[in-house]
Amino acid sequence: MDMEKPWTGRFTEATDRFVEAFTASVDFDQRLYQHDIAGSIAHAKMLAKVGVLSENEMQQIVAGLQVIESEIEQGQFIWRIGLEDVHMNIEARLTENIGSVGKKLHTGRSRNDQVATDIRLYLREQIDLIQTELKRLIGGLISVAERENATILPGFTHLQSAQPVTFGHHLLAWVEMLLRDRARLQDCRQRVNVLPLGAAALAGTTYPLDRYYTAELLGFAGVAENSLDAVSDRDFAIEFSAAAALLMMHLSRFGEELVLWSSAHFDFIDLGDAFCTGSSIMPQKKNPDVPELVRGKTGRVYGHLMGLLTLMKSQPLAYNKDNQEDKEPLFDTVDTLKGCLKVYADMIPGMSVKADKMLAAAKRGFTTATDLADYLVRKGVAFRDAHEIVGKAVRHCIEQSCDLSDLSLSVLQSFSAVIQADVHEVLTLQGSVAARNHFGGTAPAQVQAAAQRARVRLEAV
Ligand code: ARG
Repeated sequence: MDMEKPWTGRFTEATDRFVEAFTASVDFDQRLYQHDIAGSIAHAKMLAKVGVLSENEMQQIVAGLQVIESEIEQGQFIWRIGLEDVHMNIEARLTENIGSVGKKLHTGRSRNDQVATDIRLYLREQIDLIQTELKRLIGGLISVAERENATILPGFTHLQSAQPVTFGHHLLAWVEMLLRDRARLQDCRQRVNVLPLGAAALAGTTYPLDRYYTAELLGFAGVAENSLDAVSDRDFAIEFSAAAALLMMHLSRFGEELVLWSSAHFDFIDLGDAFCTGSSIMPQKKNPDVPELVRGKTGRVYGHLMGLLTLMKSQPLAYNKDNQEDKEPLFDTVDTLKGCLKVYADMIPGMSVKADKMLAAAKRGFTTATDLADYLVRKGVAFRDAHEIVGKAVRHCIEQSCDLSDLSLSVLQSFSAVIQADVHEVLTLQGSVAARNHFGGTAPAQVQAAAQRARVRLEAV
């Protein structure tokens, strides 16, 4: 029988070979090795501080763990499926390397509080990396928004041309979404950053552990209050996945617009050859694969959120083996998010904006019709009547294949006698956007001010 497992004492038969592979997590949880080792080093130091380990024993354990870390980094570590997971692989190797003192490391600890600690350390680090990429993307968007503060394109509702807006204003709408994502991730980080160690299997431990000292060594802001909750809680992973799902939803919306804008029908932007691919059959094609893939990858992140919620549904206290299933969805969510943020952050600053095409599209869609109605209201016409008058003028333009701004004063006056020569100021696209000059509006001056505020808010989270 296989004696390498540390728990075989009460067993008389070996584990079924398939069951061994079926229950093992080492293939995927080995990615937690740095956090597992950091957690073990802190635990050993704390055990020495409270007198459970001698100073010398602690030093042998810490040095042994550091050797294992470099063995893993250099690809010399042999992961054994019979040892089930990252925790038992590292612990078994420690005892092989330093002898029986290695067996003292697991005093006052269980894999249940150990794994919960490892995931929290991992996720805290990953949230910080995600925030760095997110910040780079937001910074890039703000810069393009500043540069394009006066570039005019049609704004849409129902994907029909509605009113002219500035491109900078449009990009700052994306910035608002991403700043909320940033705040959500930072808020989630607070609940990730709590130490489970000391909960042991579920009920706490008889050793005089100093949990605050372990927390301090690992940079945790707090210590889990309840041992049962500490080993079973995965709320933090679900919260993170929910924040990730929202963020991916935003990236998918940008992706959809980037795909539309780079099509021949819109022709508003060029994404740059480095971010597109060609077709193996159609020589003319330049496909916006990056935003399409980001749009598509949103699905798996939503799926992982649903997977984690369902994983935890109806679980009795405290730790259950079900929880081993938390890792793959969480890891894939982190990888997907980091990849999508990186590729957008790299791509956006190099995107070229076809201002002439945007302007031409804004002219085509009667986007200043509301401005004409507002003009009539200022001249004393009731809004509903103004709406009717402008609707008739638009119908006339459709018949004549021209824009409202092409109509002569006398033709305009045939729709309403209150129209004067000053009407042409409101019918220009520049006049229309400049008139929306209030906090939150699309006027170029407002875009500049909003971009400046966004930079300050970006630093504040
Ligand atoms: N590999 C396990 C997990 O990922 C570690 C904890 C296992 N604990 C146990 N008592 N079987 O959840």
